[in-house]
Amino acid sequence: MTNTADHNSKVFIETVGCQMNMLDSELVIAALRQQGYEVTSNVKDADTVLFNTCSVREHAEHKIYSALGRLKYSRRQRPNQVIGVMGCMAQKDQSLIFERAPHVDLIVGTGQLAEIPRLIAEVRSTRDPQLAVSLGRREGNRETVSSSFQSYDPLRDPEMRPSPYQAFVRIVIGCDKFCTYCVVPSTRGPEQSRSPTEIAHEVKVLAGQGVKEVTLLGQTVNSYKHTEDGRLYELADLLELIHDTDGIERIKFVTNYPRDMSTRLLQAVRDLPKVCRYLHVPAQSGCDEQLKLMKRGYTVADYDEMMQRINEIVPGCAVSSDFIVGFCRESEASFQMSMDLIRKYRFKNSFIFKYSERPGTKADSLYDDDIPEDVKRRRNNEMLELQNSISEEDNADFIGRTVEVLVEGPSRSAQKAAERGDANNELAEQLVGRTDCDRIVVFDGNPRLAGSMARISVHDCTATTLLGSIVTREFQHGTSELLPVLG
Ligand code: 5AD
Ligand code: SF4
Repeated sequence: MTNTADHNSKVFIETVGCQMNMLDSELVIAALRQQGYEVTSNVKDADTVLFNTCSVREHAEHKIYSALGRLKYSRRQRPNQVIGVMGCMAQKDQSLIFERAPHVDLIVGTGQLAEIPRLIAEVRSTRDPQLAVSLGRREGNRETVSSSFQSYDPLRDPEMRPSPYQAFVRIVIGCDKFCTYCVVPSTRGPEQSRSPTEIAHEVKVLAGQGVKEVTLLGQTVNSYKHTEDGRLYELADLLELIHDTDGIERIKFVTNYPRDMSTRLLQAVRDLPKVCRYLHVPAQSGCDEQLKLMKRGYTVADYDEMMQRINEIVPGCAVSSDFIVGFCRESEASFQMSMDLIRKYRFKNSFIFKYSERPGTKADSLYDDDIPEDVKRRRNNEMLELQNSISEEDNADFIGRTVEVLVEGPSRSAQKAAERGDANNELAEQLVGRTDCDRIVVFDGNPRLAGSMARISVHDCTATTLLGSIVTREFQHGTSELLPVLG
């Protein structure tokens, strides 16, 4: 590959939004590094500044527009600087971004990320603004629109991962569910499942780079379906295919769509030991009328049936959910039904969002955003409080028990201390790991344990974290073997 970057060209990237965006940033940085770019964490040092954006809620877009505003005059100092907006907001707002922020040089949608190195070079040589976006859902037939969204996965950059031992692997791009509140079907395009052979190869390459845990990604990951050599692969088949990859110890997959949670998939979770007993299956609401307005495609009874199957087939499986509060016409009674759902299933955790009306969605054109902001806020707080108290109670059950974790590395506070330069030089540092059921565990240990499995005896907790210490002499004392290992 030729080096097309200016000498010592430095790129700064800010990523907001979901794990899909984190993966996209990794791929873009991998491509830019191949061209000779260096990554900087200081925007002031950068001659290329990229924002990888999210459009799911208005707030996320505001944040990006304010960040762009702060760069309005930065070209005075750096006449050669290139400012780019990539990802969901780029696909959604397109040239509107040039109007709202005329100092932006580059707009690249989720399906065109592979073009970024070339487009940056183009801006730098011509100073002409560049725009590369995929087709809208109604701008061609399904095949043409699908092929305008490239999945772009082979390039990887270990340094951009959550930790050197964890990597994301995209298996489904786009979404065809068209929930009425959601922009994703237009920002990420039609649902397309990647080839199982390609995915298995990618997992092998990642394992070769030292990755221990892969998280398979899709907006509706369990809708995965791909026919190859005359054989139909569903997610259960794919899990089986990659399960025995040497070096891989854990496999997770997010996010699940309730209606596609098949019994076969749950049996695969039960039978394949490396697959984590953790399922993120957003309910969004506990009220049938709301689910219908959201066009979620299931009822509360369907969700209940799914939860029963999860509990029967994978006992002890941790389940987490998403909820939207203050969606159009949500009455106090509807809201209470969502609260009841949380009480009934005691989710491990829930991601709770205030409804944010999104231009171009069905909900925007069909319904009034009629729940006042203060009511949304109150419901949001009440729901958070309920979920937190449940999470804390459930975490408290782990006190006195031993759990097995994959050690991820220094905890965030230890990392911050190191960045400030006030980390002490002792061997033990605060580390963080996760159980098979996705529970976060914090404990003191040698940072060299990162990437290995460790047994932790839990002695305290918060709503989000278990606190414990490493079980070091379990076999000599023969005590902790007797303690149940939970996830
Ligand atoms: N407003 C609020 N929350 C939303 N989500 C998706 N679209 C919206 C919206 N318009 C939430 C859903 C989804 C999560 C990723 O974001 O709960 O599961
Ligand atoms: Fe959005 Fe619904 Fe698709 Fe999830 S399933 S990405 S909420 S449209």
